[in-house]
Amino acid sequence: MFLGFYLPLAGLLGLLPGTCSALEPTAQDESEFKSWLLQNNKKYSLQEYYHRLPIFVENKRKIERHNAGNSSFQMGLNRFSDLSFAEFKKRYLWQEPQNCSATKGNFLEAFGAAPDFVDWRKKGNYVTPVKNQGPCGSCWTFSTTGCLESAVAIATGQLLLLSEQQLVDCAQAFNNHGCSGGLPSQAFEYIKYNKGIMSETTYPYTAQNGSCHFQPDKVVAAVKEVVNITIYDELSMEQAVATHNPISFAFEVTDDFVSYKSGVYTNPKCHTTPDKVNHAVLAVGYAQENGEPYWIVKNSWGPEWGIDGYFYIERGKNMCGLASCASFPVPQV
Ligand SMILES: *[C@@H]1O[C@H](CO)[C@@H](O)[C@H](O)[C@H]1NC(C)=O
Ligand SMILES: *[C@@H]1O[C@H](CO)[C@@H](O)[C@H](O)[C@H]1NC(C)=O
Ligand SMILES: *[C@@H]1O[C@H](CO)[C@@H](O)[C@H](O)[C@H]1NC(C)=O
Ligand SMILES: *[C@@H]1O[C@H](CO)[C@@H](O)[C@H](O)[C@H]1NC(C)=O
Repeated sequence: MFLGFYLPLAGLLGLLPGTCSALEPTAQDESEFKSWLLQNNKKYSLQEYYHRLPIFVENKRKIERHNAGNSSFQMGLNRFSDLSFAEFKKRYLWQEPQNCSATKGNFLEAFGAAPDFVDWRKKGNYVTPVKNQGPCGSCWTFSTTGCLESAVAIATGQLLLLSEQQLVDCAQAFNNHGCSGGLPSQAFEYIKYNKGIMSETTYPYTAQNGSCHFQPDKVVAAVKEVVNITIYDELSMEQAVATHNPISFAFEVTDDFVSYKSGVYTNPKCHTTPDKVNHAVLAVGYAQENGEPYWIVKNSWGPEWGIDGYFYIERGKNMCGLASCASFPVPQV
């Protein structure tokens, strides 16, 4: 749809200042919305345009209010800015709790002195580029492949791209539900018992539920052991990242997180228990800034989101339940 053609109709649709009671998009708002549409390559029908405009404006105002305040992180417009949080949740997050029940983990290392700073992206060629899950609740598959990709690279020096789609299509027997959710720990179990996972190229990602096309002769990586970290033991998470490799964890995404742009994310209002986590990601390191400790985390919402696809989140406080469900695999090499 060529939007420019329809824009003069705004007045006819009752969106002139003063006539729309809930939100009154100004000319400035509308011009920002138009450039955002162009930037994000979105093309809407007339109806969709006027449905999305107020949502965009509400998100934009929220971002402006947040950035004017004294927060440790900044928010910004991104390609999700025309979605309400309810819509975002439905498309990109888990719809129901995922039995994140690794209460007592099997990570049994004595806690020694972990270094102050770890970043696996800087230690060598150990972390694959940020991927994009698209509109499918498959974050758990990206957290899983990201973790195993790094663990294999650290063990063998070979950085491979592994197949998320195989996990979407084939890992149901381990309580995973394709685009409707799953857990990295359960996906590692699947890869272990399945005796391997194929590559991104031989089993490419479609962002949709599909039927299983696993080919055993195309396996490129495998899991020897699954390591769960005991619930709320954030120090063990640090120890695992410092001494082993990046680790998978889950946490609760709330509406402000969707517009995260930079800085250390923190939220006094989100939940902290395993039944509330709704998104799985990959901790590739940790550090601190002005005495504020944080995790360095790889997300799966594309490289344009956040800090080149990454985010920082406060460390040491089980922020948004991030210490309730962490795990990593020991690769079979
Ligand atoms: C801003 O926040 C920091 C900590 O995040 C705090 O130390 C400082 O006092 C706050 N400043 C104001 C003006 O609220
Ligand atoms: C949680 O576990 C129970 C029992 O194993 C199972 O019936 C249920 O489907 C699981 N829920 C999810 C979301 O995996
Ligand atoms: C790890 O946790 C998952 C559940 O998230 C469980 O199915 C699995 O048995 C646990 N594995 C170990 C080795 O404790
Ligand atoms: C995807 O498939 C799983 C079963 O593997 C099912 O539980 C889930 O509802 C499906 N989700 C979608 C979005 O089709």
